[in-house]
Amino acid sequence: MPTRPSSARRAAVPRKKAATKKPGVAWSGRFAEPVDERVKRYTASVDFDKRLARDDIDGSIAHARMLAAKKVISRKDLVAIERGMASIRREIQEGRFDWSLDAEDVHLNIERRLTALVGDPGKRLHTARSRNDQVATDIRLWLRRELDAIVALLGKLEVALIDTAEKNADTAMPGFTHLQVAQPVTFGHHLLAYVEMFERDRERFLDCRKRLNRLPLGAAALAGTSYPIDREHVARSLGFDAVTENSLDSVSDRDFAIEFCGCASLAMMHISRLSEELILWMSPRFGFIMLPDRYCTGSSIMPQKKNPDVPELARGKTGRVYGHLMALLTLMKGQPLAYNKDNQEDKEPLFDTVDTLHDTLAIFAEMIPGIRVNRERMRAAATEGYATATDLADYLVKKGLAFRDAHEVVARAVRQAETRGVDLAELSLAELREFSPVIGRDVAKVLTLEGSLAGRKHIGGTAPAAVRAAVVRARRRLAR
Ligand code: ARG
Repeated sequence: MPTRPSSARRAAVPRKKAATKKPGVAWSGRFAEPVDERVKRYTASVDFDKRLARDDIDGSIAHARMLAAKKVISRKDLVAIERGMASIRREIQEGRFDWSLDAEDVHLNIERRLTALVGDPGKRLHTARSRNDQVATDIRLWLRRELDAIVALLGKLEVALIDTAEKNADTAMPGFTHLQVAQPVTFGHHLLAYVEMFERDRERFLDCRKRLNRLPLGAAALAGTSYPIDREHVARSLGFDAVTENSLDSVSDRDFAIEFCGCASLAMMHISRLSEELILWMSPRFGFIMLPDRYCTGSSIMPQKKNPDVPELARGKTGRVYGHLMALLTLMKGQPLAYNKDNQEDKEPLFDTVDTLHDTLAIFAEMIPGIRVNRERMRAAATEGYATATDLADYLVKKGLAFRDAHEVVARAVRQAETRGVDLAELSLAELREFSPVIGRDVAKVLTLEGSLAGRKHIGGTAPAAVRAAVVRARRRLAR
């Protein structure tokens, strides 16, 4: 919004007492004139923080119950507050709530409506708290629920990948390094690599949740409060594991949101790598897979095209999630203790991070089971590029050669196969023996894709048997 700094210097110059002073702005008592219209728009957050309404109401009710239990407010006040909040909840759910810029943010909008509905008890709700500890509580409640949904979606995506991996436990494909054919792997093994990544992401979110799930309410503006509050009571009723330890820290730090965005960035980075591979595999040059049509679009000019828009967008959206992480880190770095209004800027990046990751995961979890695998194309690609050369070298080592000598022998064999335009497995035994007399009939087994794959049967290996065992372990891990 184009607001020049000069207009933001409210009340810096003494002016004539304003004739019209709008009532109802909670903090307007000491101001000589109403806030400039542009400044009002500049400082208001209700347009976006109304997303916290549900959690704001939950937090307020828990606070009011504690105040009543501690006899800071009366039972009658509490009943009125609960009744008022129930109506407000309905109004918001049914889209009848009248959000107003005059009331600045979600907290003041709800409090103002409460007072309009129930009178004086509404004015007592804000006893022993501040919007500073209120908003810190609301974001944590909101983010905890969103985090739980994201953890569930990561699990769903893992299940989709595990199921597809199981079906492709013995589907041979080329494994790449430097995007050059390196050694054969199974497609199932390749997919399970992503299961590992997403499982670490899930663990990271669950770990982030531990630090997120502490109640800051009670810190009030910054220094705590002299009312006889019971923070543990509120923490229990809102499902927090504990209360925060220091009031200044409670209202000022947003590291939990930054940590969340860090976790989200890593998860999007993994999604982006998977996307890049889906895009490559779907290109006719590879022709390894086809994505279901409902995840693709055509071209308005080239009738033959089917574009992998979903993975492309996911790759692109990864950038915006990284951007939000940077925004929040930068937002925080220069702030002195305790609360500063800068923190109001935490919401939009956080909300957009949650929305982007949530939608991306939901779409991927549904898209993965629809992938059509072209086993023949994968297999053919795995037999190009001398993918079993390392297997031949290992074979020679097992027959007594030093690895460096074996490497040399195989390099010569590859050169020969290359001049003849055939694969290693297509060289005759006699031809192979010219490179090394230790080569015997049993070499055929290691030169085939199946032989190469089956040999790597240890934990973490690509053999079909190892993949099936890994599938079982991955499923068990998810069920915990
Ligand atoms: N809307 C504010 C925020 O998001 C709420 C806290 C305002 N506190 C204050 N002292 N102005 O951070």
